[in-house]
This record gives sequence, structure tokens and C-alpha cells, in this order.
Amino acid sequence: MENGFEYILTRYPRGDRGFLIPILQEVQEAYGHISPDAVDAIREFSGVSPGEIFGVASFFSQFRFTRPGKHTIRVCLGTACHVRGSDRILEFIQLQLKIKPGETTLNELFSLERVACVGCCALAPVVVVDKDVHARMSSTKSQKLLKRYKD
Ligand code: FES
Repeated sequence: MENGFEYILTRYPRGDRGFLIPILQEVQEAYGHISPDAVDAIREFSGVSPGEIFGVASFFSQFRFTRPGKHTIRVCLGTACHVRGSDRILEFIQLQLKIKPGETTLNELFSLERVACVGCCALAPVVVVDKDVHARMSSTKSQKLLKRYKD
């Protein structure tokens, strides 16, 4: 196995599909995403088909298949944020960046994710960029926010 993933894979029993999730977690943590090469290496090692790997991984929001951008934008869609219009903010950011949640812009500057409650409901609606929480967001404030991170 000469694909760069062996240091993760060889810690697990070959051909045992029961370890798929821990393997995916380790690859995600080490590389920030599950690349096509990683899917191939996992398939070869565990015997799980790429379709099943994608199926399992897409069930959990922690896994992503594209390389993360320089900045990760997380729009909270928890209840408090949702009732204050976070879905419209997400839609606005999607249109601005021309990507959907789970994707990265072509220039690799931004990744977009939707998240459940991030624990700052009093500040709803909330958008988190990297580790910074932005409170009481709106589409107008999102536009300014994107511009700030672009510059
Ligand atoms: S619902 Fe968004 S921070 Fe709690």
C-alpha cells in the first residue's frame, strides 16, 4: 500500500468493515477532508465499496469530501437561529459564494457548512467564521463579513 494513508489504515484489521467510521474520522482529522485517493485506499483496505463509503460518510455532517478553504463559514441552523432567519442567511451566502454547504469556492478561500446549535442562542442568528462567532447576522451583515475575509 503506497498511498500515504497506510499509517492510518495499518492500525486497523484489513478487510474488517466494522472499522469504517473510525478510519474515516482519522483521515478527516489528518487531511481535513476525505479525498478520492482516500476513498480508494479505504476501499482497497477494508473491502467497502466507494458507494457505501460515501453513503456512510454523508450521513455524518463531520465528514467532507472537498478540501477545506482558507476560511470555513458555518451557518447555524439550530432552532433559535432558524426562527430568526438563518436559512435566508445561508441562502444568501450560497448565492454570493456560488457554493453549497460541504463545498469550497474555486479559489479555495471559503468553505461553507451548516451546523446545528453552536451554543450562542442569545446571539441568534449566528454565523461562525473559523473560530469567530458573528452575532445577530443578516444578509447585509453577511455581505460585509465576506468582504472583510476576502480583503
Ligand atoms: S440555535 Fe444557533 S446558536 Fe443555538
